[in-house]
Amino acid sequence: MYEQVTLDYATNALEPYIDQTTIETHHGKHHATYTKNFNDMVEKAGLVGKTVEEILANLPVVPDATIRQGLRNQGGGYYNHNLYFEMFSPNPTKAPTGKLADAINAQFGSLEACIEEISKLAAAQFGSGWAWLSTDKDGKLYVSNSLNQDNPISEGTGHTPLIALDVWEHAYYLKYKNLRPDYIKAFWEVLDWKKVEERYEKLL
Ligand SMILES: [Fe+2]
Repeated sequence: MYEQVTLDYATNALEPYIDQTTIETHHGKHHATYTKNFNDMVEKAGLVGKTVEEILANLPVVPDATIRQGLRNQGGGYYNHNLYFEMFSPNPTKAPTGKLADAINAQFGSLEACIEEISKLAAAQFGSGWAWLSTDKDGKLYVSNSLNQDNPISEGTGHTPLIALDVWEHAYYLKYKNLRPDYIKAFWEVLDWKKVEERYEKLL
């Protein structure tokens, strides 16, 4: 059974950056549905017992095209939103320290440049999708964006996302309407770099 992450903050705690109704709908409805559908799909595929990471990293071995696409969509939706909701805090640490800070400075020049690169990809993503900060198989940081619920785990062995920026309209439309760039700016206001850093250090 794949469990949806529970929020460790109140649904109104990210106001005014991410509003209560959006959190309630996004986590309570959209993410809950991805979670239920993913559980159903895994059972249908006969993959019970595999981790979501194993499933997403090995999609090409699923022989049935409909089931493969279902696992990609629902598994991505389940995994991506777990990461998304886990990384917020009403009292976020605004910058990483330690090894993550060093890696970001080495790769992008500065934290501001890193945020700028991810934000540009998020704004440029046509239609529904995500922007990412991830590590590749050599542990090197990189940024990317993806369509629908696709994620870096499916790109190649050993890719691990650290930050997931949801740019589906359901993530921002109730508050920000068509102003996706304003939502992207708000995202960084509640992203807790301490949580990102903890995730990164577990990979080392
Ligand atoms: Fe979403």
